[in-house]
Amino acid sequence: MLISYTNNNNNNNNNNNNNWHIPPPPYIHRGGTTTSTSLHLSEFEKDYSKYTNTDDDETDAKSQFGTKSYWDAMYEGMGDFSSEEYSWYYGFEVIQPYLEKYTRPSDGNVASNDKAEFNILIPGCGNDPLLLDMYNAGYRKLTGFDYSQGAIDRQFDLLNYLVQTSSGSDVSSVELRVEDARSLPQEWNERFDVIIEKGALDAIYLSGDGNFEKSVKELTRVLRRGGICISCSGVVPADLRREGFCTEDWEWLRDGTDDLKAGCFVLKKR
Ligand SMILES: C[S@@+](CC[C@H](N)C(=O)[O-])C[C@H]1O[C@@H](n2cnc3c(N)ncnc32)[C@H](O)[C@@H]1O
Repeated sequence: MLISYTNNNNNNNNNNNNNWHIPPPPYIHRGGTTTSTSLHLSEFEKDYSKYTNTDDDETDAKSQFGTKSYWDAMYEGMGDFSSEEYSWYYGFEVIQPYLEKYTRPSDGNVASNDKAEFNILIPGCGNDPLLLDMYNAGYRKLTGFDYSQGAIDRQFDLLNYLVQTSSGSDVSSVELRVEDARSLPQEWNERFDVIIEKGALDAIYLSGDGNFEKSVKELTRVLRRGGICISCSGVVPADLRREGFCTEDWEWLRDGTDDLKAGCFVLKKR
């Protein structure tokens, strides 16, 4: 198997064997259509009750975007973000200049001079082709996770498509996992040099009180000291972000509050 593919939910579906065949998705980079002030409410959301199995964990959600059943349904092909790939807010082309600027070896924010050696975590990766774009830009040690199995299946499809269409591509250094940001594996302690989250903390904030704080705590734990977190976010209230990424623990290298689209915040763990 080319991609390390872990499902800690132990769902017994056929995605864990080696012979599932994936029709290659068209590799079309679609821009997100949301603005910085709100994740837009879709037609799907109006009809959403058809697909929901609201459980106890979802009763505090501020919006459907904060429920797992919404995302599960989405990645099963329902709703208007159901294309094979979808990039919220913007793509790697916006993030890349900041990533390059703040991971210069001379700044000491990353442990290696070689970007192929940076250990990078992408929380709540959804079906965003960010991992693919980063792989194509020379980043290799990429770990993507999402709490929705369907998102991880989509990522698997996207990476498999790269392998099928681009000779010599070996994505064995890419790890895809089903994980919940509120409780990450213990063995990830201080493992990562860089975290790039886009829209994940927004969805987590919308899932209810306390979940944003829990997730930021976990992301802080898995980032090594001096590591960089790039947070692309348009929904988390400014005061909550300031509290979560408090200046005691984080140096704010870039404040994205005034960005036109979702803000691109760059933070360094002290
Ligand atoms: C707005 S989408 C962003 C997807 C992708 N990062 C992008 O930029 O296109 C939010 C993603 O976060 C995931 N998510 C929400 N809560 C999560 C949690 N507690 N743990 C892991 N993933 C979560 C959802 O399943 C969804 O894929």
